Amino acid sequence: MPDSVILAIETSCDDTAAAVVEGTNVLSNVISSQAVHDLWGGIVPELASREHVLSVVPIVKAALRDADRSLDDIDAIAVTNGPGLPGSLTVGTQFARGLALRRSIPLIPVHHIEAHIYSPYLEDPGIGFPAVCLVVSGGHTAIVHLSGFAEYTVLGLTRDDAAGEAFDKVAKMLGLGYPGGPHIDRLAAEGKADAIQFPRGLLHDGSYDFSFSGLKTAVRYYLRDHQNARIEDVCASTQAAIVDVLVAKTIAAAKAYQVTSILLSGGVAANRMLRQRMESQASLLGCTFVAPRQGYSVDNAAMIGFLASHRLEQGYAVHPTHIRIQPSALRAVRPI
Ligand code: KG4
Ligand code: ZN
Repeated sequence: MPDSVILAIETSCDDTAAAVVEGTNVLSNVISSQAVHDLWGGIVPELASREHVLSVVPIVKAALRDADRSLDDIDAIAVTNGPGLPGSLTVGTQFARGLALRRSIPLIPVHHIEAHIYSPYLEDPGIGFPAVCLVVSGGHTAIVHLSGFAEYTVLGLTRDDAAGEAFDKVAKMLGLGYPGGPHIDRLAAEGKADAIQFPRGLLHDGSYDFSFSGLKTAVRYYLRDHQNARIEDVCASTQAAIVDVLVAKTIAAAKAYQVTSILLSGGVAANRMLRQRMESQASLLGCTFVAPRQGYSVDNAAMIGFLASHRLEQGYAVHPTHIRIQPSALRAVRPI
């Protein structure tokens, strides 16, 4: 049986995204990032929903056009129903509901973090199980053990800020733009990673959990007490403190669970130091390392459509009128 052609929509946070996916084949992947938040140094939920309302139709049209498909060629609609900002999720789910009703085709709700977890398989469907995946973005930081497409266990989560949020908040203190991660990545290359000893939260506590709020406070006090601090050194030392913990905990999980593959997903996966360190540690363990290309790693709809194609095979679709948003489901990630 040929794979279903799925139109996927993602509007959980501040990116409006749509994709057309046929099994593991991505026919189009369109992402529109909202610039309106730059002024505020962080995401303003009300502005995010308004921008989604303006963008969702043109972005879906662009995804259909890039895929050379019309709405009549689509077999099912997939949409992120949580976790995320309630207003943003509502725009995407209601739009998806309308399309599915109009065409009388199945609607597949997709959990945003589950989609991040499996996004490396979009890059390489042959990646072996068991695997551990580090999901690191502006909203989430989690280590997950994967034994198959329908089975995973969350080993650890952040207890406060997400890793990307830590990058963003430090960047804001330094007067860099939003999002801050890419600025810190760039400036860190000119600085000394051991110039300042910032705290490595929960590094030795034996759990797979993270905490970045102590780092944020330490940087604030350091900047208050060192008015002439070299910004490149602050960036390099901050980045090292974040990356040290992310890599140490992921590798500890990989060893404990004797996995064959180590995966990296989410916007922070673009960080060069994180990728290099994870890749070299994975190779020392003899594990395959996969971090998907940026377009599949940041918030995108290709990952939503890809996971939806698995869910559809598993018989997991809802009647369009039954779609519900689950905005605060972040800690409710559980094996299915
Ligand atoms: O996945 P994403 O696009 O959106 C969500 O937050 O879900 O991730 C965005 C996050 C931001 O916090 C941004 O600062 C961070 O990813 N980021 C980076 C880099 N590029 C993006 N952090 C560190 N180094 C980077 N090169
Ligand atoms: Zn995300």
